[in-house]
Amino acid sequence: MIDALPPQGVPADQVLAELRGMRAADLPTHGGRLFAYVYDPARAGLDELAMSAYALSAHVNGLDPTAFPSLLATENALVAAAARVLGAGPGTDAPDVVGSVTSGGTESLILAVKTARDAHPEITAPRLVAPSTAHAAFAKAAHYLGVALDLVPVDPETFTPDPAAVAAAITADTVLVACSAPSYAQGVVDPVEQIAAIAAERGVRCHVDACFGGWALPFLRRVGVAVPAFDFGLPGVTSMSVDLHKYAYTPKGVSVLLHRDAGLRRPQYFAFADWPGYTMVNPVISSTRSGGPIAAAFATLRHVGDEGYLELARQTRDAVAGLAKAVSEVDGLRLLAPADFTVVCLTSDDPGLDLFVLADELAARGWHTQPQLPYQGIPASIHLTVTASVLPQVPQFGPALAESAAAARAHGPVELPAELLAMAAHLPPDQLTAEMVAGLADTFGLTGGEPGAAPRMAVVNAVLAAAPPRLRERLLVEFVSLLQRPSW
Ligand SMILES: Cc1ncc(COP(=O)(O)O)c(C=O)c1O
Repeated sequence: MIDALPPQGVPADQVLAELRGMRAADLPTHGGRLFAYVYDPARAGLDELAMSAYALSAHVNGLDPTAFPSLLATENALVAAAARVLGAGPGTDAPDVVGSVTSGGTESLILAVKTARDAHPEITAPRLVAPSTAHAAFAKAAHYLGVALDLVPVDPETFTPDPAAVAAAITADTVLVACSAPSYAQGVVDPVEQIAAIAAERGVRCHVDACFGGWALPFLRRVGVAVPAFDFGLPGVTSMSVDLHKYAYTPKGVSVLLHRDAGLRRPQYFAFADWPGYTMVNPVISSTRSGGPIAAAFATLRHVGDEGYLELARQTRDAVAGLAKAVSEVDGLRLLAPADFTVVCLTSDDPGLDLFVLADELAARGWHTQPQLPYQGIPASIHLTVTASVLPQVPQFGPALAESAAAARAHGPVELPAELLAMAAHLPPDQLTAEMVAGLADTFGLTGGEPGAAPRMAVVNAVLAAAPPRLRERLLVEFVSLLQRPSW
């Protein structure tokens, strides 16, 4: 075990060598073969620039915007850029837009819900309406903030909600209606125009979660992709979020939350003067905030520029088309949703071709995809978040997919022992113990394996797929808790 606090400090070179050694076991963040977690533009020099900018401002503290004007200036510049990309700012129908930089999509969504909730102190049991495809961060926001979540089911073919069903879900206690542009799982854009109009008619705020692909959509539109209206050009849209650490390709830790005007934003702030220290005034959840991620994002946007993002959108568009074609050429596989924007989501219609086994076979060949569990009539799928770096990999993907599918067929589908299947389907979540999960993790080789050796996950995914959502949650909480132990 590596000791983070050795008796004597370790030389800098050695510490970095140790870190490099540990990083070697991680999935590859560059190279266009990891289809989740990372966003890679594959632009020479961009990482180095972002890291230099990060280092310049790492110790700057956003706690007080008057103490470090560089942070305020760069944050305001990022907000203006995001607003412009999303149809707001001078010369638009949303000229008074304002915003804040947050640490990520989840924080932006928590703050959007908090702002909507606190705008209505008279509503004692506030509610949030969202399609069932909305990102899990809305559920987290609702949970943290004591807001009830009303999920509207989506059509199993289009993965979008019927606007009439959204309208029917709005009550006098609804403080916010949310929708996605695009959703994460299938990468589809909700009918934002209709939903925003309904929300406006009912006098309810409407948040468009453009965290995931919201930066890419406007550039994709400019390179010829048909993108429906989804931004501040729609009068009912009151707030939007867009993660710069996704398709703006900045280092992690940067999202922008925008409101149509300062009045709408006001309840976002938390201020407290009732103690003997400094008066706290925070626009976001953190109080002390490093300037590092903001400086890195500022440098990234300024260096890539509008033209650069157009080119990255072209590359992403072509990569998506190439991957989608490869999927359509493998017998038994099909696209679950149209690959219109930045996601390729595939499924299998062939019982002999188990998607979870396929994902393992792809991983064994160096292609790291994200299996998605079946949910409310939506079948299991494999998700690919596609970024610009994927384009040069496309010619190799088709053969790898065909070979992996053949190997998955030869392997055959996962067959769980009957007692495990029964446990997954029927065990009440509160009866699952840490010991049971430790036993399962051991059986499946998930703990204590060789670092870097990807465990076969198909059996685990099959168990999770057989379990209802509450048990899935419990299983994974116990598993993660098993991993999060101090390394003595
Ligand atoms: C649509 C959408 N919203 C919100 C989030 C949450 O973002 P983060 O992981 O940065 O908190 C994501 C993340 O993938 C997303 O896809």
